[in-house]
Amino acid sequence: MRVIQTISELRQWSRLARQQGNVVGLVPTMGALHAGHISLVREAKTGCDAVAVSIFVNPTQFGPNEDLAKYPRTWDADCALLEAEGVDVVFAPMVEEVYPPGAATFVEVEGLSSRLDGQSRPGHFRGVATVVAKLFIAAEPDRAYFGQKDAAQVAVLRRMVADLGLPVQLEICPIVREPDGLAMSSRNRYLSAEERQRALVLKRALDAVAAAIAAGERDAEALQAVARASFADQPLVKIDYIAAVNWATLEPVEQVRAGDLFAVAAWVGTTRLLDNFIVSNESPQLG
Ligand code: PAF
Repeated sequence: MRVIQTISELRQWSRLARQQGNVVGLVPTMGALHAGHISLVREAKTGCDAVAVSIFVNPTQFGPNEDLAKYPRTWDADCALLEAEGVDVVFAPMVEEVYPPGAATFVEVEGLSSRLDGQSRPGHFRGVATVVAKLFIAAEPDRAYFGQKDAAQVAVLRRMVADLGLPVQLEICPIVREPDGLAMSSRNRYLSAEERQRALVLKRALDAVAAAIAAGERDAEALQAVARASFADQPLVKIDYIAAVNWATLEPVEQVRAGDLFAVAAWVGTTRLLDNFIVSNESPQLG
């Protein structure tokens, strides 16, 4: 497995791989890899001939009071996992490689970037769109892999790719869960044992909503009330949002339909967690 730190070397690798007839896949990550990331890597390995994984804790997607400094950095463990998966390249640039001194160019996906997570984390999606655009320009992948857990991020990136006409296919992979249902996240490692238990309320709320949809409820407000009720016995978990939205626009819907996104975000102590499902035609699938 080759570790690459510069954009020019990554581009050279990718262009050579494509010249040799290979489909190039990119899995963008911030490291602290878990089974969710590994599922993206496996999809990429299945769908592509040459796979690069980027590990870059992107400073521009963190707000001033967020966890940039303490974000878990587990380089050796990450590399061991990726090596075992047969990844070809790990792209791990320094901050100055991605944001050269004086960098003043950002990608802003208007509207979507201020909804859901973007509402509680102003500037977050500007940072995400910017770094992902830079990674696409550097790696020139045919396919790029993202997790459904960050469903609003997916909507922002789909819009960006469509608007900029970027020649990359986005592949969205299902949420991977711990055996008790908690959606995998690099931030789960911040949780104390007690918080870890409390965090299960997110999945319980989604299960309750899914059951209500299966029983015929379609009214978004009623479904949001069902989710809210699940949080009632967890006063120490603070709801950030409970939302039923169109997955493409992130605009609220009044009646949920197949393809809509039902998403929750909540603070468990100082850790903000996300979970969601996409409403399906039959019984809703919980990611
Ligand atoms: O989902 C993430 O881990 C990050 O937002 C991403 C897409 C790697 C951009 O930094």
